[in-house]
Amino acid sequence: MTETLAEPFDAILELAGQPLREAMATVETRLREIAGVEAHALHTIAAGGKRLRPLLVFVAGLGSSARTELCRAAAAVELVHSATLVHDDVLDDAPLRRGHKTVFAAAGREAATATGDLLLSSAFSELARNGAVDQLVALSAASSALARGELMQRADAWRADVTLERYLERCELKTARLFAAACELGALCARRPPLGPFGRAVGLAFQILDDVLDITGPAERTGKRRGADLLDGTVTLPLILARERSAELAALDLRSVSGPDDADRVCGLIENTGAAEEARRRALDLVATSKRELPLMSREERRALELVADSLVERYA
Ligand code: IPE
Ligand code: IPE
Ligand code: MG
Ligand code: MG
Repeated sequence: MTETLAEPFDAILELAGQPLREAMATVETRLREIAGVEAHALHTIAAGGKRLRPLLVFVAGLGSSARTELCRAAAAVELVHSATLVHDDVLDDAPLRRGHKTVFAAAGREAATATGDLLLSSAFSELARNGAVDQLVALSAASSALARGELMQRADAWRADVTLERYLERCELKTARLFAAACELGALCARRPPLGPFGRAVGLAFQILDDVLDITGPAERTGKRRGADLLDGTVTLPLILARERSAELAALDLRSVSGPDDADRVCGLIENTGAAEEARRRALDLVATSKRELPLMSREERRALELVADSLVERYA
């Protein structure tokens, strides 16, 4: 089953009304049109996903009449995101994505690499139609950051000395910058003051919570066995914090984690130190701060952004 956003998303739709529903539907149609030139690309898009980043574009541009521009920007951000996931699944050797076989698992590394490339280049063709260099600069900077973040993750794989700062930098690059770009694009299309810092903070929190879920599961909720990050050598915040609290975990060489059962056992050790809970708390604090520090705007715009922030963390509550 593809994950969808629950009540907070409905609440945003209720607040923003029919125009937001229509805009999201327009993006959906456009995404299918763009990806429809190739089967794997279309499957990736048709499998769904929460469409959080398009939603952020629209909420950041709420009430603006620049509808066509906003729809192109929203589709472009989702295409960059989807491209990244297809590539990420190659890097992470992942079997499942959005409830279906990954392109990598179904068709191999070459097809997945080429599908990701197609989705990525389509993103920029779509955004270029807005004829706005500042928008292209915002999205291309986020896209490069993302690729650097993935490279950093590979460089740091299996290492026992990954620091908190280095982890946060990686999350910033691979996730937060695209959330920030979504907010920036919405604001640019609507000719409003930038909302990048809000997007950055909720993006960072989103990645931290995703990493917490990999440790805590449960599998019935995530659709995958816990500890997948440990098995591919990815050091995340719960492990970094747990290593400060447990000599056994401080001494653990991730390469010695022998398979899913052993990974499950290590996840239990990490949870027992309270580190996963601490990581979750840090992420929720980031979201709370981002809501408090929103710039001056109308009550309706503020409420919509607060609801988006809540919807991001809702699945972890
Ligand atoms: C998954 O992002 C990758 C992370 C940044 C953790 P999403 O959870 O937004 O993925 P979809 O689009 O809903 O599948
Ligand atoms: C998310 O990284 C993908 C990017 C942001 C590039 P992960 O590898 O942590 O995400 P999932 O768990 O595969 O969705
Ligand atoms: Mg990854
Ligand atoms: Mg992955």
